[in-house]
Amino acid sequence: MARIEIVQGDITKQQVDAIANAANTTLLGGGGVDGAIHRAAGPELLAECRTLHGCPTGEAKITKGYRLPAKYVLHTPGPVWHGGQNDEEELLASCYLSCLCLASEYGCRTVAFPSISTGVYHFPLEKATRIAIGTIAVYLREHPEIELVRMVCFDARTKEYYDAALRALEEGA
Ligand code: APR
Repeated sequence: MARIEIVQGDITKQQVDAIANAANTTLLGGGGVDGAIHRAAGPELLAECRTLHGCPTGEAKITKGYRLPAKYVLHTPGPVWHGGQNDEEELLASCYLSCLCLASEYGCRTVAFPSISTGVYHFPLEKATRIAIGTIAVYLREHPEIELVRMVCFDARTKEYYDAALRALEEGA
């Protein structure tokens, strides 16, 4: 699906309209990609996040991108993996869907995602990639206004799993 691309790189460098942030429910920053995005965007990002009063897992809130190349940041707290009996899969799908809905609402045409929840939240990578690619593909079929979704993988292993999930989708399509 030409409208989904998988790259290895740093999401803070992506020249897209919006980047998603694998945040936590306080929206007050953290480590991992959350920390990287706040460092790159500068202190105004945290200042705006403070006005949002947090965000429930699986939902998303939008801010400006400040010093980032991206115009917007889509903050979404992913689920922490607790074995799969706590709606983790539905919540992860909801993260991608919530971000894409906000992107459409704000007129974004290109969006970049990190691999939500597969870091310190320990969501199993193979399962997460199938959920991410599947959710994005269904959304893109119904939303031509989104021209490109780029999965930005920080390491080669993550990229391999996203590449495999995209191949499986294209073979099944
Ligand atoms: N660009 C792209 N991906 C990145 C970057 C970056 N600059 N930095 C890290 N990543 C990748 C990680 O390698 C991992 O594959 O993002 C993915 C998500 O990992 P985490 O950042 O740990 O996010 P998550 O598992 O969703 O945990 C969220 O971590 O940072 C805190 O505040 C955050 O509490 C929240 C939790």
